Parts: sequence; C-alpha cells; structure tokens
Amino acid sequence: MIPKHIAFIMDGNGRWASSRGLPRTEGYKHGLEALMRVIKRLDERGVEAVSAFAFSTENSARPQAEIDAIFEQVKKFNRTYSGPLRVTYMGDIDALDAEVAQSVEEVERRTADSSGTLLNIALNYGARSDIIHAAKIAADSGLFSEEKFEESLSGAGLPKLDMIVRTGGEKRLSNFMLYEAAYAELLFLDKLWPDMTEDDADAVLEEFSRRVRKFGR
Ligand code: IPE
Ligand code: IPE
Ligand code: MG
Repeated sequence: MIPKHIAFIMDGNGRWASSRGLPRTEGYKHGLEALMRVIKRLDERGVEAVSAFAFSTENSARPQAEIDAIFEQVKKFNRTYSGPLRVTYMGDIDALDAEVAQSVEEVERRTADSSGTLLNIALNYGARSDIIHAAKIAADSGLFSEEKFEESLSGAGLPKLDMIVRTGGEKRLSNFMLYEAAYAELLFLDKLWPDMTEDDADAVLEEFSRRVRKFGR
C-alpha cells in the first residue's frame, strides 16, 4: 500500500551543517535540496500529499540570523519553483514578513493547477494553536460538530494523514499535526534531514507497507 499523505518533520539541518564546520544556515539550503529529492521520488510513486514542517511557531525564539536564513530559502523556493508539484502552505503566514507572505501567495497561485503531488509546507505552524483556532470557529458557528471542527483545521482538504516521519534522531512531535497524528504511523530516523536521498524516500514507503494498521479494530 502506498500512503496517500506523509508528513515530514525535517529535523537535523543545523547539526548537519555544524558537523561539517559550516554555519547552521548552510543546513537549510541543503535541507531544501533534500526535500526536493524526497518529494520527487514520492511524486513518482504516486503519493498524493506530503506535508513538510519548515518552521514552527516556537522556532521564532531562535537567533534572528538563523530565522532570516530559513525565510530566505522559503522565499527563493516560492519565487523560483517550477515543477510538477502543487504547493500550499499552512500556518500563520499573515504574521510573517510581507515579502514572505507575498511569495507564499505567488507560489500557491502559480502551482494551483499542477497535477503532481501536493506539497503542503507548514510555516510558522503550531498544532495546538491550529486546534484552538479550529475549535473557536466550530464553537462560533453555534453548532459544535466534529465535522465543522475538522474542516476548520489548516490541513483540512488533505487526505487523512497516514504517516509522520521525523529525521534527526529525536523521538517527539514538537507540536506538529497533533490532531491528525491520531492514527498515523510514526517513523523516527537517525539520519539528519539534508542527508535524505531518493532511496531513503523509497525506504519510507517500504516501511509503511510493512505496518499493520488496525484503527482499534
Ligand atoms: C529543523 O532543523 C528545521 C527548522 C527548525 C527550520 P534544525 O534547525 O532544528 O536542526 P537541528 O535539529 O538543530 O540540527
Ligand atoms: C521541529 O524541529 C520543527 C521543524 C522541523 C521545523 P525543532 O528542532 O524545532 O524541534 P525541537 O526543538 O527539537 O523539539
Ligand atoms: Mg532541531
């Protein structure tokens, strides 16, 4: 079985760079290249959607130079990407620098009719505030239903999340897609994100196909 929707917590970019004597910011450049390698293979294999955690709300506590370097990569990607993917974003984009927000709009518009895998980038995203936001919309609607709540989450409209993969060795979700994680398969890899290859993407699919999903039954 090929999963319909895989989410990646792309961790280990800073360590990848530091271990090579490079500034941490170099890690983000190579991290973006790794994302392109991985998603190219997943697109070839027919995965419908890939969510990728690029920047958490908590990451805004990092040094400004590092934050700037991350958003430089994001802007560069948004302004130059041309390929088969459809690109969308989730997270509090409006709170970001106007140039970043504009580049997000640009790439979403430019790729809106693409037929390839949907690349859903989580930027300035935190699952808890996403859940609270959706709950508020559902409550304000006057009739709090699970359906109304779920359609107000920022990942609504994506296929159900099948698997979460975290690279970099840490075994935690760090406030990523907590509601959607309910029955997702979890895979933790020691590999640092910039080291991920096309073959690693295939290994993720293989691992998924070995999992026996029960959904409580
Ligand atoms: C994760 O990589 C990506 C972002 C936070 C943007 P890190 O920057 O956390 O890399 P490590 O975990 O410090 O190596
Ligand atoms: C999670 O990685 C966020 C992203 C990959 C964007 P972090 O490096 O921020 O997570 P913690 O701090 O180790 O939990
Ligand atoms: Mg990290």
